[in-house]
Amino acid sequence: MTMKEKIQQLKVQFDQEISKILDPTALAGLEIKYLGRKAGQLTKILRSLKDIPEKERREIGQLANSVKQEIESKLKAVRKSISGRARNEEWLDVTLPGEPMPEGHLHLVTQAIGEIVEIFEAIGFSRRRYPEVEWDYYAFESLNMPPEHPARDEWETFFIDSKPVGPKGQRVLTPHTSSGQVREMERKKPPIRMMNISKCYRRQIDVSHLPMFHQFEGLLIDKNVTIAHLKGTLDYFVKQFFGPARKARIRPSHFQFTEPSFEVDVSCGLCNGRGCKMCKGGWLELGGAGMVHPNVLKAGKVDPKKYSGLAFGWGVERSYLMKAGLSIPDIRLLYGNDLRFLNQF
Ligand code: FA5
Repeated sequence: MTMKEKIQQLKVQFDQEISKILDPTALAGLEIKYLGRKAGQLTKILRSLKDIPEKERREIGQLANSVKQEIESKLKAVRKSISGRARNEEWLDVTLPGEPMPEGHLHLVTQAIGEIVEIFEAIGFSRRRYPEVEWDYYAFESLNMPPEHPARDEWETFFIDSKPVGPKGQRVLTPHTSSGQVREMERKKPPIRMMNISKCYRRQIDVSHLPMFHQFEGLLIDKNVTIAHLKGTLDYFVKQFFGPARKARIRPSHFQFTEPSFEVDVSCGLCNGRGCKMCKGGWLELGGAGMVHPNVLKAGKVDPKKYSGLAFGWGVERSYLMKAGLSIPDIRLLYGNDLRFLNQF
């Protein structure tokens, strides 16, 4: 074995031995074994350098010295770590800044739902959630839309490919939260104050329509409920959700399940009702509302001679987009999962 090979082998051997050292006594023994002044293995090699022919001496000398430095620094590092452990100290600099964890937040639709629930809970409405896969009966028939009624077409419904079951008919993906109205009347006798917030599905997709979106539906049934209560409730919501300067207004409309029926508008937050590019006339359309139709009350086994009710149903996504200061050009951005967009909210 040449001198060079001997030094290299010594280094490998040292590395193996130091990796097993666990206590200061063994470490001291190892230091003596390699670097001891009298019989250290590397010391002997260094001492014999003078006997090597001159032309090799320089190279071998450099190698032996670099191995010596390496051994010394490894001994030093292990000594430090062993003594730290012995003093029961963690070998860790706790003052170093940690890796920051990416912090998420609730999706803006979830935030909006939370806000809406809070606003309505304050006036006695309780949150309900009715099925997304619904019977035809609750989505249409109980809402005064018998089979083949033309008004059903407006709901662009997805039908589940299954056979109709009894009087509840076929299964559909619910196209609106009004399907919770008769379900709530079946669950509970009046007085009723329900806030049904659920996913709805329609065969629509463009800048202002999603195939899956959320609606929130208020239903209040009690004695002597009038349009004045409806107007008061709408105005309260609009001021709480959009801001104290905003106003609500109702316009005549038609829904099979309310009589009379209305479209609800909110004054535009950008121009304060004066009219601008965003609203064209000062008002933005929020959704439908009306006084619960007697046939719907009857379907829920509520006597229309004793009780009356109000109902309203709006899109969560559209309402959120109408908040002041938000001019989002495409409703589909809400579900694009693009963090550059979502992180702004
Ligand atoms: C209805 O769905 C009625 N059920 C509302 C109602 C409830 C009237 C109670 C009377 C009493 P409409 O189809 O207009 O109405 O939908 C209401 C709101 O849902 C719309 O104004 C809009 O905000 C939202 N919406 C409807 N379709 C979509 C869609 N494809 N994408 C996003 N939002 C939608």
